[in-house]
Amino acid sequence: MKVLITGGAGFIGSNFIHYWLENHPEDDVVNFDKLTYAGNLENLKDIATNPHYSFVQGDICDTEAVEKVMNGVDLVVHFAAESHVDRSIHDPSVFVKTNVEGTNVLLNSALKNNVKHFHHISTDEVFGALSLETEEKFNEKTPYNPRSPYSASKAGSDHLVRAYHTTYGLPITITNCSNNYGPYQFPEKLIPLAITNVIEGKKIPIYGDGLYVRDWLHVEDHCRAIDLVIGKGKVGETYVVGGMTELVPNIEIAKKILSLLGKDETFLEYVKDRPGHDRKYDVDWTKIKTELGWKPLHNFDEWMEKTVEWYKNNEDWWKHIKSGEYQTYYEKQYGQG
Ligand code: NAD
Ligand code: DAU
Repeated sequence: MKVLITGGAGFIGSNFIHYWLENHPEDDVVNFDKLTYAGNLENLKDIATNPHYSFVQGDICDTEAVEKVMNGVDLVVHFAAESHVDRSIHDPSVFVKTNVEGTNVLLNSALKNNVKHFHHISTDEVFGALSLETEEKFNEKTPYNPRSPYSASKAGSDHLVRAYHTTYGLPITITNCSNNYGPYQFPEKLIPLAITNVIEGKKIPIYGDGLYVRDWLHVEDHCRAIDLVIGKGKVGETYVVGGMTELVPNIEIAKKILSLLGKDETFLEYVKDRPGHDRKYDVDWTKIKTELGWKPLHNFDEWMEKTVEWYKNNEDWWKHIKSGEYQTYYEKQYGQG
């Protein structure tokens, strides 16, 4: 089978390529990625010469380039996106372009080329925000209520994917997952930013009161969920995927990281809050559990420790990233770093 992975040089996409080549060694995987600031071929250097893997640099908004790469493809797994909420607040337009228009270009081309299955990777952020008091969780029936330019653009892409199924019969599935963590995550997101800052002797910036809550999902559990949905999920359906059974506020995540790195709370710095900051995400993954037998296998405390170890052992990887465009972004977002 020929599998086209978009955004395979990013965090989840590169973990997924590793996962897929290991679990489906007979397939040919094509990684189509623009290599934006978030794309990094270093994430894939160990498999660069694998005869079942190839890389094509290109933009999902470029119809001609997409048409070329779509030729003969059986399965598309679509990760490519602008993915960081804070950047979407600085400049929404690239989010609309890539996440909405780019998804439309891919869908159109998948339809023309009779692709057998199009799997779209989305986020729990499309459902909006829960209050700290409620026990309600997001599920597949939760109405969409995106509140940031990022989540609005992802919501737009989800609607387009469903519309191509309903209108044209394109065989699709969608997963909406919670916050991933693990190796190769770009150090603009809370967990890798916190770990790498502390290793560098810098503080962890905590937005607002630090009592915001996310549902943390290890990236390998996410990859397994996508694989199951592709293999056994019902065409046209959406599955939400979450990782944690216990709710931990950001400040506690930061304290866990400090304790794993042997540092005290003087490394915490409360900073200006994110505008429109969603208070809580919490995911009810009953459907994927009962229909497909999936559950998260990665216990948060244990895998957080392994994640901290990974960043400790891979300083070259993130130091290289943190020395480039990242500095300009960091100063814009946090002031002098
Ligand atoms: P990332 O920012 O680490 O990687 C995105 C990748 O897409 C990069 O390699 C980048 O070069 C590529 N890309 C961006 N624009 C492109 C374009 N126009 N054409 C081709 N390639 C392009 O993102 P991630 O965290 O790995 O997220 C992957 C997907 O998962 C996204 O769709 C995101 O919305 C979704 N998601 C992420 C999380 C999370 O916690 N990281 C959670 C839920 C859903
Ligand atoms: O829920 C899934 C989403 O998770 C994905 O769709 C997004 O692509 C991904 O970026 C992530 O979005 P968040 O905004 O939840 O992740 P982030 O790591 O940016 O922030 C996690 C929490 O930590 C959030 O409450 C904001 C807070 N935060 C973040 C940063 C970067 C801080 O307090 N300080 C920070 O410096």
